[in-house]
Amino acid sequence: MKALVLAGGSGTRLRPITHTSAKQLIPVANKPVLFYGLEQLRDAGITDIGIIVGDTRAEVMAAVGDGSELGIQVTYIPQDAPLGLAHAVLIARDFLGDDDFCMFLGDNFLLGGVSDFVAEFESSTAAAQILLTEVAEPQFYGVAVLDEAGSVVQMVEKPANPPSNLAVVGVYLFRSVVHDAVRAIEPSARGELEITDAIAWLIAQDLDVRSHLVTGYWKDTGRLEDMLECNRRVLEGIAPDVRGDVDAESQLVGRVVIEEGATIVRSTVRGPAIIGRGTHLEDSYVGPFTSIYHGCTITGTELEHSIILEDCVITGAGRIEDSLLGKSVTVVRSEQVPRAQRLMLGDHSTVSLP
Ligand code: DAU
Repeated sequence: MKALVLAGGSGTRLRPITHTSAKQLIPVANKPVLFYGLEQLRDAGITDIGIIVGDTRAEVMAAVGDGSELGIQVTYIPQDAPLGLAHAVLIARDFLGDDDFCMFLGDNFLLGGVSDFVAEFESSTAAAQILLTEVAEPQFYGVAVLDEAGSVVQMVEKPANPPSNLAVVGVYLFRSVVHDAVRAIEPSARGELEITDAIAWLIAQDLDVRSHLVTGYWKDTGRLEDMLECNRRVLEGIAPDVRGDVDAESQLVGRVVIEEGATIVRSTVRGPAIIGRGTHLEDSYVGPFTSIYHGCTITGTELEHSIILEDCVITGAGRIEDSLLGKSVTVVRSEQVPRAQRLMLGDHSTVSLP
């Protein structure tokens, strides 16, 4: 079995972070969200993996490389424009051949892996198998309706009036007949070739589409709140591990990870929290559910329940909570008069002042 992982597209809901960067590379507990999926596929025994890449291909390719560090073998499949999940299958035909495959959306985060799901499909004769989970707002997802035996009888993408509360999770299993389906369907109202329509096509051909209900934690990490929640869930499970330097005047409380080369000076870190490689923390407080990525310098600041990407500089910034800072962001307290907020923010930035 092969896998097709989707890491193209555009992350409009996470702008401005994803104007130039891949949303699949935003770190959750200091590991790109995409890597969790790749590792789970590997753990399910799937190592031959095609990755769909779009405008952010250089960044994705630099992060994943040939996959050997993750124990997988990667083939990159460029997609010129995000024309839909079924379009991704269409252009991956040569890579996939007639093999069964698992399609995994690179911005989806699933606790517990996919091994059971894959094994169940392999021992069945179903044409496709989808993962479903109950959600409060099904209108934002693909939605499925099941019969009593658990077979899928209806599929619809982001319906205004959802026929059930069962959302489609971004992990799908297909036999090669899906290639007929993606060739048969037309673009949707939003101009995309929808995988939900391809699955509906399979159902219309009287082919068996099975479902598997996810009871564990799942998140489509499309929005800031989702990223923070996901980060919280992963940090809840971390074990303390201190590899950097912590001076005698600093205090680590609870489950704290200090990566190699990080330096903690006159600061308190209250876990669960993770401080990335090469980050310098001085006269600062880092509170629970905070992930600070590589190469940051944080001085005289309190940070809590936040994700800070690489190479940020934060100096005397007071208390920062519930925040996501992109790469190389600078937040400094200035003594310059007049005392004013001086901002240089990218398009679609959000600042919430006390
Ligand atoms: O997360 C689950 C949902 O994912 C499902 O419930 C929906 O049925 C499914 O259509 C999908 O909806 P989204 O609107 O969230 O998909 P999004 O555009 O965010 O794309 C998902 C991933 O696939 C993301 O990592 C970007 C990538 N992608 C997307 C498109 C449209 C590509 O690589 N190429 C594309 O053409």
